Amino acid sequence: MALPAVRLCTGASMPLLGLGTSSVYGRQNDCYRAVKTALQMGYRHFDTAEYYKNEKEIGQALQENFTAGLNREEVFVTSKLWNTRHHPDDVLPACQRSLTDLGLDYLDLYLMHFPVAFARGDNLLPYDDKGQIITLDIHFMETWKAMEKLVDKGRVKAIGVSNFNISQMEEVLTNGRIRPAVNQIESHPYLGCHRLLEYCTAKGVVMTAYCPMGRPGSQEAKEYGVGSLLEDPVIIEISKKHGKTPAQVCLKWQVQRNVVVIPKSVTPARIQENCQLFDFELSEDDMSAINKLDKNARIVGLNWECKTHPLWPFNEDF
Ligand SMILES: NC(=O)c1ccc[n+]([C@@H]2O[C@H](COP(=O)([O-])OP(=O)(O)OC[C@H]3O[C@@H](n4cnc5c(N)ncnc54)[C@H](OP(=O)(O)O)[C@@H]3O)[C@@H](O)[C@H]2O)c1
Repeated sequence: MALPAVRLCTGASMPLLGLGTSSVYGRQNDCYRAVKTALQMGYRHFDTAEYYKNEKEIGQALQENFTAGLNREEVFVTSKLWNTRHHPDDVLPACQRSLTDLGLDYLDLYLMHFPVAFARGDNLLPYDDKGQIITLDIHFMETWKAMEKLVDKGRVKAIGVSNFNISQMEEVLTNGRIRPAVNQIESHPYLGCHRLLEYCTAKGVVMTAYCPMGRPGSQEAKEYGVGSLLEDPVIIEISKKHGKTPAQVCLKWQVQRNVVVIPKSVTPARIQENCQLFDFELSEDDMSAINKLDKNARIVGLNWECKTHPLWPFNEDF
């Protein structure tokens, strides 16, 4: 049975649950195996990016399933344009490289990974000798206009943004020819992004939550005050009441807000756990108790040394 989906402004449907794949590449084919397992368990949505260096592995897993009878139209694949590819001349080649690596003719969704442009080239994190990221003076609207041409050429079905704050989204919605279908941002109970979600909903933009479980076990989650999310007493109590795990409660809270989730796992039991979300409902009281856990605790992007850049998104609330 197909997992529930949301409708994008393009009319396409996007499954509310996808498999996240960042930091999964090269280790004993982890990503390849995770995608194969997820396909078996009913996942039909995969989130990748040039930055994750795993598009070939994902492509291989998908191709094998296409050969075995899966239709391309049944799968929703998202990739992302990395910060070193913001120059308009670099956008089509970057997208084409992702398509080639994934073995696909088109992407269902292509996101601008981040609003700030980095120095051009294959060094994905170009630091100078003072430890600062080398940024470029390219406004994201220039990049967006090049991404619009990817839709015209049929390389991608929809385009969107990632890590854009409300005023940056407003700029794209006002000045772009094609509307962003999605904004993919970090969100979990400790970073509810309630204002951004309200804004996205009003504008017909779907919000996707990355780090939806707060990246448990990671050093950065501990460092930025998210490490204990899955042990939070409120989450534990709600999970016990429903006979579900804390991770499932965090994911379900997003899905019930109509937010797409892309939990990452390479562990078969967890891949399965994370998709068992559609056989229970959180009550209004559960939802509002989780809403109250918000403490604006963000994990991703904070250790990048370009915080003074005028397009740095996280100086404003989300
Ligand atoms: N657009 C962006 O800038 C951006 C930034 C970050 C992430 N993303 C996307 O969002 C996806 C998800 O974010 P994330 O990977 O940072 O964080 P996450 O999905 O919140 O957490 C992933 C971690 O949780 C573990 N895990 C998975 N299921 C679990 C469960 N049921 N119980 C306990 N632990 C569990 C995983 O371990 P195992 O794998 O060992 O099972 C992994 O270490 C990424 O993979 C990527 O696709 C996008």
